[in-house]
Amino acid sequence: MKLLEKLKGMEKTALKEIIESANLDELETSRVKYLGRKGVITDAIKGIKNVAKKDKPRVGQFINKIKQKITVLIAEKECSFREEEQARFENDDVTLPGIRREIGHKHPLIKTMEDIIEIFTRMGFKPVDSPEVETEFYNFEALNIPEDHPSRETFHTFYVEGGHLLRSQTSTTQIRIMERHKPPLQIIHAGKVYRPDAVDASHSFMFYQIEGFMVDEGIAFSDLKGVLEGFAKEYFGEDVKMRFRPHYFPFTEPSAEVDIACFICGGKGCRVCSYKGWLEILGAGMINPRIFEFVKIDPSKYTGFAFGMGIDRICMLKYGIDDIRLLYENDVRFLRQF
Ligand code: PHE
Repeated sequence: MKLLEKLKGMEKTALKEIIESANLDELETSRVKYLGRKGVITDAIKGIKNVAKKDKPRVGQFINKIKQKITVLIAEKECSFREEEQARFENDDVTLPGIRREIGHKHPLIKTMEDIIEIFTRMGFKPVDSPEVETEFYNFEALNIPEDHPSRETFHTFYVEGGHLLRSQTSTTQIRIMERHKPPLQIIHAGKVYRPDAVDASHSFMFYQIEGFMVDEGIAFSDLKGVLEGFAKEYFGEDVKMRFRPHYFPFTEPSAEVDIACFICGGKGCRVCSYKGWLEILGAGMINPRIFEFVKIDPSKYTGFAFGMGIDRICMLKYGIDDIRLLYENDVRFLRQF
């Protein structure tokens, strides 16, 4: 009988396939192929209805036998795979040291940023978020930098589609917060800024700044000095020396740049401070009353100070890093050291 021959052939292939399966996954594939709902055996059983009536019992019994053989063989094979696995596990020497997985840690820049934020938070400053994609209004106009203003040059800017730009300073945060919230305000914000500078050891087209400001009745320049000196002592140590140099920013009046005495050479002059003995770390000043007009805060009642610090700079000083590019290249040999 031709059908029986065919079934015998199928049986042979099936048993061979199962015996040769190399692992549990392959075995499962064979099981589905032969015993599954749409499998070869199921098909064969369905096919019995086309067999001549007198042959039906014989064919039926034959298929059942094959099915049983396949089922038993699969069960045996599965059993032996599981035993092998168990044996492998038992042969393991559990006293051997485990595989050490490398654990990541904070990037030096992020660590610096968090340390600085933490100090200001303890002084009562509240951390806020602020967008990186901005409009000319927040990055320039509202900060008293009109289109033809020469200091636009200082804040060279990347423009993006739709009249937007990548902010070139975190001072945008002053406007963002003051236009929505009324004094007293004591705010800190850290984030990325972008300037199309040529990249070298001390310049990057993207870097981090921290902006802080305080607005209330009776805030004076001495408050700014007190806060910044408090910060410098906390971060760089009690004997840090600091100096304020007059400077110009359109959004502060008066304005200053703040230096700390180079702690590599103690102020004598070295490579790190370009033989000046001082390192500039931030810009600051009393918030220009014109800014208050923009955000509808009464300048006859309120005063305030603001400062903006370069985090990369401070990170490099703190850890003795002499090239800003190292902070952005993600070379694990460098990062591992922190
Ligand atoms: N935004 C200025 C800069 O990027 C720094 C600054 C902030 C100066 C706040 C004064 C007040 O150079």
